[in-house]
Amino acid sequence: MRCYVLSAPGTIDGLHLVERPDPTPGPRQVLVRVRATSLNYRDLITVEGKYARAAPKPDLIPLSDGAGEVVAVGPGVTRLAVGDRVAGCFMQKWIGGEIDATAQASAMGGAIDGMLTELAVLEEDGAVVLPTHLGFEQGATLPCAAVTAWNALVEIGRIKAGDTVLVQGSGGVSIFALQFARMFGARVIATSSSAAKAERLKAMGAEAVIDYRATPDWDQEALRLTGGRGADIVVEVGGAGTLPRSFLAARLGGRIAVIGLLTGPSQVDPMPILRRNLRVQGLYVGSRQMFEAMNRAIAAGGLEPVIDRIFPFAEAKEAYRHLKGQGHFGKVVIAH
Ligand SMILES: NC(=O)c1ccc[n+]([C@@H]2O[C@H](COP(=O)([O-])OP(=O)(O)OC[C@H]3O[C@@H](n4cnc5c(N)ncnc54)[C@H](OP(=O)(O)O)[C@@H]3O)[C@@H](O)[C@H]2O)c1
Repeated sequence: MRCYVLSAPGTIDGLHLVERPDPTPGPRQVLVRVRATSLNYRDLITVEGKYARAAPKPDLIPLSDGAGEVVAVGPGVTRLAVGDRVAGCFMQKWIGGEIDATAQASAMGGAIDGMLTELAVLEEDGAVVLPTHLGFEQGATLPCAAVTAWNALVEIGRIKAGDTVLVQGSGGVSIFALQFARMFGARVIATSSSAAKAERLKAMGAEAVIDYRATPDWDQEALRLTGGRGADIVVEVGGAGTLPRSFLAARLGGRIAVIGLLTGPSQVDPMPILRRNLRVQGLYVGSRQMFEAMNRAIAAGGLEPVIDRIFPFAEAKEAYRHLKGQGHFGKVVIAH
């Protein structure tokens, strides 16, 4: 099989396309012919050697996200069968309940090999069947960004109709959060640095879009747009540079799902958390049970993931460069 390996973290050119022997599934594992993968910001900073978690394993096969068909099963497999259309779970060993160290140590494309390969062995407990209306390219967008957005809104946010959700920017997580929020009957306020992307966010149901560059105190604008109340849920992907304003944009007793680190360091003042009785919760993607619940909602609502661009497998490095440029809207996909 052909796969990419990260032989020298530091730049995108540290990725190399190599030949490796075809893998065989062990007990309770399945072999998947990967048809599509998708990129997340984490994949970019992994190849650039800037990912804050433990250093990637040597000669890592990158990418957490991929979808394909099961072409062989190992001994004892009961959940899946040859021919099933599946996506891998971001963490191969987080079925449900709270995250633990075993789950964390099973994150694909980081702690263990990922999906930028023609053939991948997955735990049978670490894969989900795709919603029938989605193709492989769409299915490949789900494991990280969509599950993260679902966890933020449903598990942490306890979203309900009429809530106001604040999403930041137009990347993978934020667009899924917008789509899920609308599915639940919530109002969405978005931020974006691009007027063209703002129009697209509005077309997808964002009630208002604040330009976070032209309006650096976008938290005040979010308060104004909610009649001074603030957002019920903030899907916080910006990190240190946006967190202080997210505190101020949330309502009293609001929930902040702390997800991302797109922006640089700053001092975080705990006072707004205390004064505004905020619930601030970090999260790391989500479990297989969350993925399955999300897929049921995606199927029921007919949700279509937003794909910005699809690159061929041979041009995977171009896909990384495209993501780095931040011109994308939604997900960047590699078709195999
Ligand atoms: N904790 C977890 O489990 C988890 C899971 C998934 C992702 N993440 C993190 O979440 C973040 C987003 O990931 P992603 O894959 O969705 O990224 P992405 O697709 O690369 O998103 C990039 C977009 O973020 C927006 N952005 C950049 N700086 C911003 C700022 N200061 N304020 C608001 N928006 C800003 C930009 O939108 P505009 O062009 O519209 O301005 C940009 O296009 C990353 O830090 C990633 O590591 C964490």
